Order: sequence, then C-alpha cells, then structure tokens
Amino acid sequence: MASSYYQNKKIWLTGASSGIGEALCKTLSEYGAFLIISSRNGESLEATRKSLAHPEKCKIYPIDLSNPENVEKVSSLVLKAEGPIDMLINNAGISQRDYVINTATEVDRQLMEVNYFANIAIAKKLLPSMLERGSGHFVIMSSVTGHLGTPMRSGYAASKHALHGFYDSLRAETEPNGIKTTIICPGYIQTNISINALTGDGSPQNKMDENTNKGMTPNNLAIKALNGVAKGKKEIYIGGKEILGIYIKRYMPWLYYRIIRNYKKP
Ligand SMILES: NC(=O)c1ccc[n+]([C@@H]2O[C@H](COP(=O)([O-])OP(=O)(O)OC[C@H]3O[C@@H](n4cnc5c(N)ncnc54)[C@H](OP(=O)(O)O)[C@@H]3O)[C@@H](O)[C@H]2O)c1
Repeated sequence: MASSYYQNKKIWLTGASSGIGEALCKTLSEYGAFLIISSRNGESLEATRKSLAHPEKCKIYPIDLSNPENVEKVSSLVLKAEGPIDMLINNAGISQRDYVINTATEVDRQLMEVNYFANIAIAKKLLPSMLERGSGHFVIMSSVTGHLGTPMRSGYAASKHALHGFYDSLRAETEPNGIKTTIICPGYIQTNISINALTGDGSPQNKMDENTNKGMTPNNLAIKALNGVAKGKKEIYIGGKEILGIYIKRYMPWLYYRIIRNYKKP
C-alpha cells in the first residue's frame, strides 16, 4: 500500500499553499507523514496546515524561491532545525502565457530562478545528509511541458526541460547510494496555475484557461502521483489525452511538429 511508504517520513514540500501542493499535503497527512511546508504566503500555509488530518505533524517555513539568499537561509534553517529530511517534494512553480516576441528576458530569468535554480539549490542542500544516511527521495514536479515545447510557454518549457537534465544526472550519480529520484509530469490540472502565470512583462495573466479548468482535480493527481512515487518510479505521466503528446514527440516527432505548429488554445 502506498500509504505505508509515507508513514512517519519527514517530507519537505514546496508550493504547499495552493493547488497541487496543497492536495499532496492533505493526502500525505492522511498517510501519516510529518510535513514541512513552504511557499511565500504564510497565511495560506497556515490554512493548509489547519486543513490536514494531522496538523500537529506539520511545520511551516515560508520561503521566496525567487530570492537566492532567502532560499539559502531557509534551507539551512530547515536542515538544522528539522533534519534529516527523508523526502523533498520540489513542487512550487510558476507558468507563463506569452509569445517569445513579447517576453522580456527578465521574465525568462524569473521562471528559471523559481522553477529551476531554487529547486536544485534546495536539493543540493539536502543531498549531503541523504548520502551520509544512504537514503532519501527527491520528487520533482515537472510537466508535460518538460518533454515538449508549446506556444506561449518558452521560458516555462525551458525551466521544466532543465529539471529533467539535472535530475536524470543526479539520479544516475546517486541511485547506487540508495537515493531515489522521481519526476512527475502532469498534464492539465485544475489549479490557479494559469491565473498566476506570467505574461511578457512579468505581470500575472489573471485568467483561468479553459484547458486548465477542465483538467484533472489536484486530489486525483495527488493520489496517483503518490502511488507512483511509493513504487519508486523514475517518471510519472498524469492527466488527460495531452499526455499522449510525450509519446507522439518521442516516437513520431514529425507529427508533434505538425500538431504543435497549429496548437491554438493555451
Ligand atoms: N496545474 C497544472 O495544470 C500543472 C501542470 C503541469 C505542472 N504543474 C506544476 O505543478 C506545480 C504546482 O502548480 P499548481 O498547478 O499547484 O499551481 P498554483 O496553484 O499556482 O501553485 C503554485 C505554488 O507555487 C508557489 N510559489 C510560486 N512562486 C513562488 C515563489 N517565488 N516562492 C515560493 N513559492 C512560490 C505558490 O505559493 P505562494 O504564492 O504562496 O508563494 C503555490 O503554492 C508547479 O511546479 C507547476 O509547474 C501544474
């Protein structure tokens, strides 16, 4: 059973204040995990904590992933006060809704800072103690967009592709030392991701996309993802028919190039 894998594990989860992260926290708490939860918004984190089956087994550490000094400070603090950590779920992220021609390079940097650099900085912080103990599990929230680029997602797709390169290498280096790495690639999930997505000047889109609105619920995603993680899967694809895009690009790239050129809906 998946739940026994998480029982009393100490898990640090980023992006816990809403959407997928919040749903993962609720399920993990039901499974008996001890949670350390982070994002920028302390009040929303407190609301997440209160909604858990075991709020007494949850600690809050606000963090701003766009600020490298803050990432260094908070990750040192978490390690010192709560370590050793059994599992890191690097879930926080921001998306994008604009064309390359309209997107300031500063916005690309912001996407890379939050989705990639902060993500790997936290993993590197926890890695030595995992190596010392010969155990640990890195869980990374990528996306279908981690495998293929789509219109209006250039910086987002780049940041998610970068995660695959980094964590495939990390897995190869550390699997022999007992450390697992699982990359999750969701399709459309019903969260505020499109509302919070950055437009070309860095302001949020402030609009719910049709595809996101019709997507899988975060609770369903959480159950499926945590089952796959407990089985030690290296990659997990979860969502609707958009998941097929990964296989089409892999086995029929010519068809992917044709479909994606005409892809209109964000
Ligand atoms: N929803 C989808 O369709 C979908 C599909 C594929 C992949 N994903 C991935 O799933 C993950 C979670 O997204 P979601 O769908 O749950 O979206 P969401 O509801 O917008 O949640 C994003 C989370 O990231 C946190 N976050 C954003 N910027 C941050 C920063 N600078 N510092 C710290 N935390 C920050 C937010 O918290 P604060 O605002 O409190 O900081 C929030 O908890 C992301 O990595 C996303 O790329 C989502």
